[in-house]
Amino acid sequence: MLNCFTAQSEGSIPIISLTPQQWDSWLTKQTSTTRQWLTTLNFVAKPGNFVLLPDSEGQLKQVVLVLNDESDFWSFGSLPWVLPKGSYHYQSITDKVLLDRAALAWGLGAYEFTRYKNSTRSLTQLVFAKDSHVFTKISAIYQVRDLINTPTEDLGPAELAETVIQLAKKYEASVTQIIGDDLLKKNYPAIHAVGRASTRKPRLIDLSWGGANNPKLTLVGKGVCFDSGGLNLKPGSSMLFMKKDMGGAANAIGLAEMIMAFKLPVRLRLLIPAVENLIGSNAYKPGDIIKMRNGLNVEIGNTDAEGRLILADALSEADSEDPELLIDLATLTGAARAAMGTEISAFFTEHETLASDLLKSSVEEQDPLWRLPLYKPYQKLLDSKFADMSNSGTSSYAGAITAALFLNAFVKGITQWVHVDFNAYNVTSRPGRPEGGEAMAILALLNYLLKKYLPKQ
Ligand code: BES
Ligand code: MN
Ligand code: ZN
Repeated sequence: MLNCFTAQSEGSIPIISLTPQQWDSWLTKQTSTTRQWLTTLNFVAKPGNFVLLPDSEGQLKQVVLVLNDESDFWSFGSLPWVLPKGSYHYQSITDKVLLDRAALAWGLGAYEFTRYKNSTRSLTQLVFAKDSHVFTKISAIYQVRDLINTPTEDLGPAELAETVIQLAKKYEASVTQIIGDDLLKKNYPAIHAVGRASTRKPRLIDLSWGGANNPKLTLVGKGVCFDSGGLNLKPGSSMLFMKKDMGGAANAIGLAEMIMAFKLPVRLRLLIPAVENLIGSNAYKPGDIIKMRNGLNVEIGNTDAEGRLILADALSEADSEDPELLIDLATLTGAARAAMGTEISAFFTEHETLASDLLKSSVEEQDPLWRLPLYKPYQKLLDSKFADMSNSGTSSYAGAITAALFLNAFVKGITQWVHVDFNAYNVTSRPGRPEGGEAMAILALLNYLLKKYLPKQ
């Protein structure tokens, strides 16, 4: 069990949660000592604030947390770090769904990346029943974060593949890999071209799980373990965080794990093109023209637009077996961040019901997603003089949309396809979401998938 939870309820301290509207009536029911204590502290019932209330012996009696509103569960996520060592339980949450979400926030808030630094959190534990699906989500998300936070030196394409192999063992899935020059033999020219300048071989990782007759659900994740920009080298400040450019792969792995743990009746396929986009005498170059897996000729306008190239090969393969649903996740463009900021995931799809259902799931999970259009007239921004298409437009406008349109050329119209372009990284800490690698969009996607494939629950 995760050490931020305990099954032992004895002696645990209650956490009361209140909205600012509920505060006054709660206050009137308190003893004069408590009221005086709050006055002494100058306590303001502002969302996110919390206060420790002592008993007459000076022992901690209860914790009071002020929420944004009744549905606010993320605010609980700050508590594991600010409360004194001990065990706690949620006292005022009656709704089961909210209780689970508040426990999720606690668990996610307790996360620490301890691979290279000792833990500094004091042992604060929430009393919560064992074997909950909440734990499944938390451990999947911990792994997503660990993968993103791990420097490339310790998480290259081979290590990413090893993660998928371990995952497959846990759920009795099967994995194959196409590595290095075999990518050329098996017709994955773009994955090879982008990854070939690294001494660590590029690869396509391919996991399958579930009954062959179940509806096919395929996840594709951008696995650029480091994005230097290639010969169109990024400036140092933009390169600094590019160990996170496998955030799409990490999230796809996390979502795959949840799908398998929840035993969704699907035939799951997880495809991860894994590369390092580096420089070298054999690096692919601006002006090169790559004949892609699906036969389209793509001119390299910019070696820093590498994600769409490796995804294109993987999407062509994914699409060739006509899955019922195809989802790709990628830290694809700076432009998506310019449009959405770092906290909202942009998504693209042409399927209206899918889009509106996904938006509903996003609201329910408070995992923010917003739709951008696959606006066909912008296709011209990817025109190339020498080839069918360029991988980067000449225009600096609509970069997230043109990247999505590029990918669209590798998926046939009939497939229900969703493309997610996100940051997968918290640039600052928020309750439950510490600075660093982050699971984004996958809680919303899981909610959507659970409703689609397990509607009775
Ligand atoms: N991995 C980057 C996009 C990125 C940048 C994600 C910063 C998250 C934070 C991607 O490979 C990239 O470099 N995209 C270029 C594309 C351009 C050259 C057409 C971009 O967005 O600037
Ligand atoms: Mn790039
Ligand atoms: Zn990239």
